[in-house]
Amino acid sequence: MQDSILRLESPTTDVVIKTHPFAEIVYWGPHLHHFSPQDAQSLIRPVANGRLDVDIPLTLMAELGHGLFGAPGIEGHRQGLDGSPVFRTVAIEQQGQSLTINAEDEHAGLRLTSELALDESGVLVVRHGLTNLRAQPWQVDRLAVTLPVSERAKEVMAFHGRWIREFQPHRLTLEHDSFVIENRRGRTSHEHFPALMTGTPAFGEMHGDVWGVHLGWSGNHRLRAEVKTDGRRYVQAEALYLPGEMAIAEGETLWTPKLYASYSAQGLNGMSQQFHRYLRDHIIRFPENKPRPVHLNTWEGIYFNHDPEYIMRMADEAAALGVERFIIDDGWFKGRNDDHAALGDWTLDEKKYPNGLMPVINHVKNLGMEFGIWVEPEMINPDSDLYRAHPDWVLALPGYPQATGRHQLVLNLNIPEAFEYLLERMSWLLGEHPVDYVKWDMNRELVQPGHLGKAAADAQTRQYYRLLETLGQRFPQVEFESCSSGGGRIDYEVLTRCHRFWASDNNDALERNTIQRGMSYFFPPEVMGAHIGHHKCHATFRQHSIEFRGLTALFGHMGLELDPLTVDEHEREGYRRYAALHKQWREVIHHGTQWRVDMPDATTQAQGIVSEDQRQGLFIVSQLAMPDYTLMMPLRMPGLAPDAQYRISLLDHPNIRLTGEGGHTMRKLPAWMEAPQTVSGEWLMQAGLVLPILDPETAILIGVERV
Ligand code: GLA
Repeated sequence: MQDSILRLESPTTDVVIKTHPFAEIVYWGPHLHHFSPQDAQSLIRPVANGRLDVDIPLTLMAELGHGLFGAPGIEGHRQGLDGSPVFRTVAIEQQGQSLTINAEDEHAGLRLTSELALDESGVLVVRHGLTNLRAQPWQVDRLAVTLPVSERAKEVMAFHGRWIREFQPHRLTLEHDSFVIENRRGRTSHEHFPALMTGTPAFGEMHGDVWGVHLGWSGNHRLRAEVKTDGRRYVQAEALYLPGEMAIAEGETLWTPKLYASYSAQGLNGMSQQFHRYLRDHIIRFPENKPRPVHLNTWEGIYFNHDPEYIMRMADEAAALGVERFIIDDGWFKGRNDDHAALGDWTLDEKKYPNGLMPVINHVKNLGMEFGIWVEPEMINPDSDLYRAHPDWVLALPGYPQATGRHQLVLNLNIPEAFEYLLERMSWLLGEHPVDYVKWDMNRELVQPGHLGKAAADAQTRQYYRLLETLGQRFPQVEFESCSSGGGRIDYEVLTRCHRFWASDNNDALERNTIQRGMSYFFPPEVMGAHIGHHKCHATFRQHSIEFRGLTALFGHMGLELDPLTVDEHEREGYRRYAALHKQWREVIHHGTQWRVDMPDATTQAQGIVSEDQRQGLFIVSQLAMPDYTLMMPLRMPGLAPDAQYRISLLDHPNIRLTGEGGHTMRKLPAWMEAPQTVSGEWLMQAGLVLPILDPETAILIGVERV
């Protein structure tokens, strides 16, 4: 057996694979310091009574044909034939920490290419390619990546969500059968973020073994955590195909999306830190020494009411507040006066902009800001010139009525003329105007997506990638934001073609606290758009102080989402202060190591970011509701250098009011807030710092600096 045992290794994580006769991952866990291939013999299994008389490998492709009986990794057929493939390894190639395994089933006429790469960060990336070796097409019903996880991984964590409430974590204990996430919405979706975390019982932010996976794909998907009846466990992820949607012709190869997997022996923080590092090293493209500019986006400030004179005044004020990039949202193109009409008609509204866009763009640039603009290319309103000219360009199945969503339908990007039209219109916008940034939106789900009578959700997703990719190549200086009614299209595959995400249409600071924390499990702060909204939130009508809103927006890629001309000086002073604070700490926030802190009182949420050299740390404590206890628990600050001394400072006034006469939760401040202290990193990590007692819906910002 040891001849066929290979290992991929990284400083934190190893993967051991048995390659023959069938490829099987036999170990995925902590880095092994003393491994030799014959060790793997300790895992040669017995054969149970009352079952098949042979050992049943949990192979890379998890074929039913082995007698696995769980959810297989492949389902499909050739007009009813060749429907139960079993792949036997024919060739392997290892280069460093990357492994390619070729396997074949000569009876079914199929070849399987499996690519596994273990990165320095500890992140394992896996994908499969299925090739049809025969003349008749092979119909692919399912093609998944399956990864075994430890039998100890009894708990599962995933996210649920909805529009204006993305990334809400939930957990369950899985003893038998499976937990499945299925997404048929045609975009990554708010509802079913394609990720699963499994771990040892009660795994937390700082402790427990965690195996987390994310499928990099912006269309339909299925993820599963399964317990076999023999107790073995695995996670599985795939693009979900609609009936009849996917077939491969002779010689053609279908690749699964990439599955990104991170094992951590240090709880969820370890998992996230590995993912963040992987993204920073391999996926996020951003000029090394360019800070991400502070935004002002006009949407919630003026909606569709575009008046260039007024917009230029907004820009004046924005620049005075410290904004570095000014973005014109929806409403600039012909006939777009509300959300009923004009999507598809990508020409300037000359009634609103009689002198073109250039006066506004020049004005913004003369103020020293970058210029950005909103588009939603994949959509078409029935009330548009484009629809009147090409009603057949709608993504649909013939004979069925399409329901609109936000009064719009989807353009079929598989029609070459429609694709070319968009390419031409977007090239006009980006080629003839000095645009630095594009907010690319997508506000409707795909229902009965069809092309030439066949399901075409997968094809539409690929064409969207192609369009964005082509524009990215044509206009390499332009940054793209992926927005989809807020956080409906956030995943690693789209991140290879864009630069940041709009996390949510909800700028309510209280809601943002949980949304942003949820997003942080898989994404670092610099790609997470976080804006200060109006003091009365437009999504929830809740009201929050500028301090709570400002501090909440600090830990992402910051911006403003409002009209700064219509608010009072106290508000404006706040925008100025938080923009400045963000810039002061931006380097740490966008390049440091992020830590979510477990707090004993669930009403308190805490996190911090520590610079890579451990010289600076920034911690925020947000009190989401009335504290359960009369005293708040000390904040233990992870990630510091134990042998260093840190000066602690209160960086932002937490809106704490002391009355001493009843009312409010606190009578006397903790000592460190009255007289600044210097404390060892070890003490701050192990014993912590007592916190002032916070009122609900307030936050406090603490900085630590090495002395
Ligand atoms: C979507 C986006 C918003 C805004 C509007 C414009 O809802 O998520 O941020 O751009 O569209 O219509």
